[in-house]
Amino acid sequence: MAQLIVSGGRPLEGEVAISGAKNAALPILAAALLAEQPVTIDNLPDLKDITTSIELLDALGCRCQRLDSHSWRIDAGSAERVVAPYELVVKMRASILVLGPLLARHGRAEVSFPGGCAIGSRPVDLHLRGLEMMGAVIEIDGGYIKAQVPAGRLRGSHILMDVVSVGATENLMMAAVLAQGQTVIENAAREPEIVDLAHCLNAWGARVSGAGSNRLVIDGVAALSGGRYTVMPDRIETGTFLAAALATRGRVRTTHTDPTTLEAVLLKMQEAGAEVSCGSDWIELDSRGCAIRAVDFRTAPYPAFPTDMQSQLMAVNATAEGSAMIHETIFENRLMQAQELNRMGAKITVEGHTALVKGVAQLRGAPVRASDLRASAGLVIAALAASGETIIDRVYHIDRGYERIEEKLQGLGATIVRRDSPETEAS
Ligand code: UD1
Repeated sequence: MAQLIVSGGRPLEGEVAISGAKNAALPILAAALLAEQPVTIDNLPDLKDITTSIELLDALGCRCQRLDSHSWRIDAGSAERVVAPYELVVKMRASILVLGPLLARHGRAEVSFPGGCAIGSRPVDLHLRGLEMMGAVIEIDGGYIKAQVPAGRLRGSHILMDVVSVGATENLMMAAVLAQGQTVIENAAREPEIVDLAHCLNAWGARVSGAGSNRLVIDGVAALSGGRYTVMPDRIETGTFLAAALATRGRVRTTHTDPTTLEAVLLKMQEAGAEVSCGSDWIELDSRGCAIRAVDFRTAPYPAFPTDMQSQLMAVNATAEGSAMIHETIFENRLMQAQELNRMGAKITVEGHTALVKGVAQLRGAPVRASDLRASAGLVIAALAASGETIIDRVYHIDRGYERIEEKLQGLGATIVRRDSPETEAS
């Protein structure tokens, strides 16, 4: 099992190119199932979750061809299989995103029921309810969601979601693309990844409007033609490198990114005392010699502060002046990195969904363990800011969402290496 060894305490300095967005790439890969002609997808991040998605498309009968490390050609033209097996869904919950496309294209789907995960119970009721409103009949049998459309084709529907859900919005949007008539999704998620999926679907012949607002209107078409699409830059990877610059009091320019997708995060970084400047496709954060203050924040659906940046800003707060409250409102169990940060000398108390972070002058390196993808990003940031050596265990979590993280950090002057080591302790 891989570990990251970080010798911290040095400001990060330099330029880093941002990869394509994992959370946009996953629904776009699922959307390939809707197209009868081949699609080519560019700027895919080279990550474990992308490989898992390709394995799933393969299992569903698609012909998947790797054009280079960031581009795939997917041909779902003759894909007939409709079963997303347990072995793949258990590796990646986002596999649920094939449910809508399979039902829309074939009128049938069997997708292993995703279980809970480290950050919370994460139900899929909104996905299922929306599909039922579009005419699907769904039962849970043998651990599988078994869905079929008795009428043969889904029908447009008016769907109000009582919780804002990124995944459910994506699943229902994809299902609606090939449905009979018009679908309206109210209280839709507004995340930039939803907008990217809508742009991609429209480029392949769909008729989706309103993406980026809380009301999506989808006019069903008979078939999608296919085509080529370039995935948007990863806003969370961008924010993670900027947070690392802030925690180490350094200066980092992120390139190949989109500043318009990260406003809430940049505002907090400025409030903390950093200088932030942006161009059309770059963001630079300079915190050299700045007095950095801890900042209060609350996670909420876009355009508010993203839950996927919570652990990174917690790590910044842990090294800042003063104290701050963090409210996690999206997932019930997403403050777990606090205990690991405390092993590095941080002063964080967690009560329910709230963390009180009292900044300390210096974190100290320690062995720590990653519990999920974004929690591990927070640990890496803390390790870069800490004096001495930090060993981060269970790095596979971070590899799900960050492409070549140690290489990119080395390019910014960090001392970070990967090594293989046996698991030290049973979970
Ligand atoms: C996506 C992102 C994830 C991010 C999250 C919130 C991907 C692959 N993952 O996850 O990185 O942290 O959005 O921005 O894009 N909920 C229900 N019923 C449902 C679905 C969701 O109650 O059927 C609840 C969840 O438990 C959670 C909230 O809705 O409390 C938001 O979850 P959701 O937006 O669906 O997250 P994901 O799409 O799973």
